[in-house]
Amino acid sequence: MRLDDWRNLSADAMRPVYETERARWANGLQWDLGPSLQILEHARAEGTLPGLVVRGPGQSIVGWTYFLVQHGVLQVGALHSRTADGVRLLLDAIFKTPEASLAHEVLLFVYPDSPACESALQRRRFSVTRYWYLRRALERSCVVPIEPGLRAMVDGDGPDLVRLFSRAYSGVAGARCFAPHGRLEEWAQYLGQLTRGAALGQFLPGASMVAPGAAAGQVLGASVVTGLSQRTIHLAQLVVDPDARRQRLASRMLDTMMSWGVSHDRAVATLLVSEDNAHARALYDARGFVQTGYFLHAERPLGRRVLSTPVAASA
Ligand SMILES: CC(C)(COP(=O)(O)OP(=O)(O)OC[C@H]1O[C@@H](n2cnc3c(N)ncnc32)[C@H](O)[C@@H]1OP(=O)(O)O)[C@@H](O)C(=O)NCCC(=O)NCCS
Repeated sequence: MRLDDWRNLSADAMRPVYETERARWANGLQWDLGPSLQILEHARAEGTLPGLVVRGPGQSIVGWTYFLVQHGVLQVGALHSRTADGVRLLLDAIFKTPEASLAHEVLLFVYPDSPACESALQRRRFSVTRYWYLRRALERSCVVPIEPGLRAMVDGDGPDLVRLFSRAYSGVAGARCFAPHGRLEEWAQYLGQLTRGAALGQFLPGASMVAPGAAAGQVLGASVVTGLSQRTIHLAQLVVDPDARRQRLASRMLDTMMSWGVSHDRAVATLLVSEDNAHARALYDARGFVQTGYFLHAERPLGRRVLSTPVAASA
């Protein structure tokens, strides 16, 4: 196996890779990855997004990854290879990039294409958490009026939402994949990704709810909903202020999302939940969501000690 910097490849060489990936997400997750892949390809071709491909027999691409450094954290957006050897090859090569030398830790959030990914991450001493991908079919019985005490999200909600996210996830280990150090600027960046980026689908403000509190600027709960395809809506985030929990606020926001989905001809609702978030899983169980796949969140510090295994070959 041989490694190449993916920025040296032509768009034609990358096309089959994207087609395979788009089909995999559509079949497995009912998620149209097309818009995200266009943005990815643009950044790759411009040379602003580092990444690597693994070449197999006949120069075919049998593995790929891309990554970037933000706030000293190396974030890996994809890690594909059918074999554990291929995944380890990619990981070891990432550790040796100039980008890795600027970072003190590495985080991944990926939709694995084989069990080899998880075992390779564990072999490289990552701490790995599964995020279950849940789905449920939407039917007419889901239609409810917008619950009292909720309203659709508007542009000006941003700063209040950032503070709510920070309060709601304070001390929750699983929040590291949203805001690695829990800082307000990380939460603001994360909210921007949800509402303006394409990575988690197209933001749907009409389906995204806010539960205002009694005081000005007080927000007790929020749901951020996106569209993953013409038929799929996705609950990208759901939070309730610690002081307002167990009052069915989250349940009401979830019901409103499903109702909005039916009224807008969506057939399926999906979401991601950490395997160790028992409270949220109980909520989704009660609403009929079932597991249909999983993503992996993995993290580990970066330092000289990780440079242990030599890369077999490189471009
Ligand atoms: C998960 C969360 C959104 C629930 O909000 P909430 O408004 O308190 O939830 P609800 O009152 O609607 O609870 C609905 C059901 O969820 C389950 N649940 C919620 N909180 C629970 C808790 N602390 N302990 C046990 N079960 C709990 C219960 O089954 C509950 O039904 P019940 O009250 O009839 O027993 C809230 O705890 C939160 O913001 N957590 C941090 C952020 C987070 O994890 N978000 C989910 C991301 S996937």
